[in-house]
Amino acid sequence: MTDRVFSTDWRRAPAPPRIRENEIHVWRAQLDAEQALLPGLEAILAPEEKSRAGRFVFPRDRVHFVAAHGILRIILASYLSMPAKDVMFRYGPQKKPAIGLDHSESTVRFSLSHSHGLAVCAVARGREVGVDVEAIRPEVAGEDIAERFFSPRERAELRLLPPDRRVEGFFLCWTLKEAYIKARSVGLGIPLDSFDVSLMPGQPKGLISPDSDRWTLRSFQPAPGYAGAVVGEGKNWELRYWDWNLGLAQK
Ligand SMILES: CC(C)(COP(=O)(O)OP(=O)(O)OC[C@H]1O[C@@H](n2cnc3c(N)ncnc32)[C@H](O)[C@@H]1OP(=O)(O)O)[C@@H](O)C(=O)NCCC(=O)NCCS
Repeated sequence: MTDRVFSTDWRRAPAPPRIRENEIHVWRAQLDAEQALLPGLEAILAPEEKSRAGRFVFPRDRVHFVAAHGILRIILASYLSMPAKDVMFRYGPQKKPAIGLDHSESTVRFSLSHSHGLAVCAVARGREVGVDVEAIRPEVAGEDIAERFFSPRERAELRLLPPDRRVEGFFLCWTLKEAYIKARSVGLGIPLDSFDVSLMPGQPKGLISPDSDRWTLRSFQPAPGYAGAVVGEGKNWELRYWDWNLGLAQK
């Protein structure tokens, strides 16, 4: 479905994955593929992460949480040049996690998202970033849900799409909105209809909000059957896509 609109070239990251100030790196990781690594991933989690993992009712959710957070630590540690278990986090008022201030490389910013066995993590230097991934589920993409979460302008744009493109348009809109609120750290602290994103498949992604000059929005394809979006501060940055499951290329 989304495959015909935009495809994303996921590559093996160089080791270490150095990031320039004009780049945002987006990582993806298939969480079910990492079962054998699970004990090692769990071992590097902080006590509060282990305790959150222990509260999931369904074992599969617990596995995904442990894998996503363990992999996130390994990715961040590769930028920070430190052991993964030593990465410290701090949390904003709306619970957005950030690298702890006591790390010398605290200009590194990140955002994490996971959905149905796939995690994506965006990493930036010196700019705020938000990322979102969603499994494309046609049963979710109804007008009632759009009515509840999308702005009038977004709903009008959705209705302009041919019926066979609406599910795709719905998830482009959903992920862009989520990535924006995650970049701003505001979570559910702002009404979802207080800003508009443009959701036409294949078109540049625009934002209508009081702070629209501050951000750039991009959609990407995390994997077949998923939609993804990244929102970064500033205008002149480029995306690199790294596939965690391919490992790190040795120089
Ligand atoms: C965090 C939030 C922004 C997104 O959560 P989500 O889509 O359910 O889940 P995602 O997997 O994409 O993101 C979760 C991660 O975001 C990060 N996060 C948590 N709070 C955050 C915040 N305020 N800002 C940015 N990132 C945040 C965490 O790393 C979290 O991972 P963890 O739960 O494993 O620790 C949350 O506020 C939310 O529930 N939003 C829903 C808004 C909505 O109703 N959208 C409808 C469609 S537009």
